[in-house]
Amino acid sequence: MTCHNLVVLGGLEEFTPLVALACDRGIRTIVIDGYSRGPAKRLSVERGGAAYNIDIRDIDAIAEVVRAEHADAITTAYSDVLLECAVQVADRTGLPCHLTPDQLPYYRDKDVINETLERAGIPGPKSAVLEEGFTERDLEGLSFPLVVKPIDLYGCRGLFLTNGIDEIRACFQDARKGSSRSAVLVEEYVGDPEFNAQALVRDGVVHVIGIADREKTVHVSGELPPGTRNVYPSRYMQDVYEPALAAMSAYVRETGQTSGPLAMQFYWSPERGLQVGEVAARFLGYEHELIAYACGFSVEELLLAAAYDDEAIEEQLACGDPFGRRIAAVLYFYARDGVVGDLSSARAVAERPDVEYGQLFYEVGDRIGSPQKMPYVARFFVVDEDRDVVDRVSTEIFEEIRIPDAAGEELLYRNRVEGLA
Ligand SMILES: Nc1ncnc2c1ncn2[C@@H]1O[C@H](COP(=O)(O)OP(=O)(O)O)[C@@H](O)[C@H]1O
Ligand SMILES: [Mg+2]
Repeated sequence: MTCHNLVVLGGLEEFTPLVALACDRGIRTIVIDGYSRGPAKRLSVERGGAAYNIDIRDIDAIAEVVRAEHADAITTAYSDVLLECAVQVADRTGLPCHLTPDQLPYYRDKDVINETLERAGIPGPKSAVLEEGFTERDLEGLSFPLVVKPIDLYGCRGLFLTNGIDEIRACFQDARKGSSRSAVLVEEYVGDPEFNAQALVRDGVVHVIGIADREKTVHVSGELPPGTRNVYPSRYMQDVYEPALAAMSAYVRETGQTSGPLAMQFYWSPERGLQVGEVAARFLGYEHELIAYACGFSVEELLLAAAYDDEAIEEQLACGDPFGRRIAAVLYFYARDGVVGDLSSARAVAERPDVEYGQLFYEVGDRIGSPQKMPYVARFFVVDEDRDVVDRVSTEIFEEIRIPDAAGEELLYRNRVEGLA
């Protein structure tokens, strides 16, 4: 048997199942990123592999490791930056990859994404690119509210909801903070339900592995509502499956992507149909467990099959059903700034027998931060055969959970389940 050496770009918790699976298959893993204490790195070393602390943007240094370690494949997932760097490393070293660097803008730059959607005939929110000093004329044909966003950032950074040209001017600089582009994008706000779709492309054919409702709750009036619950499969699956598949297929035809992971965020309502928000050539973070629970696909198996064994992709795609066998939800919590005083209620939620798995991101005495230091304050997974049970448990948790400061003042924002009376 030939011994494979797989570079895994990303060493945080999310990559441990992938490293574990690779090691089980006798693949030697080489885990690389800039965080010295990544759990996936520790696991890799424990299982006879390697780990390197290298900034993922340092393509030269990673290419050096690829050669020294005789790596024969590279994989990553879950983040735009990781994907971008993996594509560059693959290009530099000749390792196989589902994208070339010149295809990256189709999945990274929001202006290019919108242009590509238009060229492919896929509906999306109306938008315009604004340079500093823009005028009323540049907003012609657009209706407020408008979302202002940086063109090349991600992770919901620098997004503003505006109701007039003065408000755009007021947030213009903040929206492009950290961006390498001088312009920003403005987009009509879409109030329809939002969805996350994930797929694998093989031989140019898109195979959907899951579509989720991405529910939101308004926490601060006038701000974009954050995502508070994702549920696989979507409650609108029968309506959205075909149009989402058609949109993803049209998109990859336009970009030339013929293999590898694909994700799409979109909006849909019976009145307005589908509108695409964003497309990425990677799997979405924090959702692989949900896909596994609900639809039976293993994102880790798919990533390994994509790296080494094209035949196995077929087998893996036969293991699941995007329409779902169970209902799996992830609940996300956010808080205003303050010092955490008591976590007993959140711990009790994590201990509930109907909660599959829970994670708290702060300890008592930790400051939440403004903006919040951690991506979430808490995160819980709820899984059941029955959608009503998942909705009832979600509602109970949303109503029960408390994270007060030492004076007993509640820090958590209240979430609500969308689409329920
Ligand atoms: N035009 C829009 N209409 C409604 N919501 C939007 C719009 N643009 C962004 N959002 C909200 O903000 C979130 C993040 O926006 P997105 O463009 O996907 O940026 P990011 O790259 O940071 O994920 C979306 O998932 C959606 O909830
Ligand atoms: Mg997005």
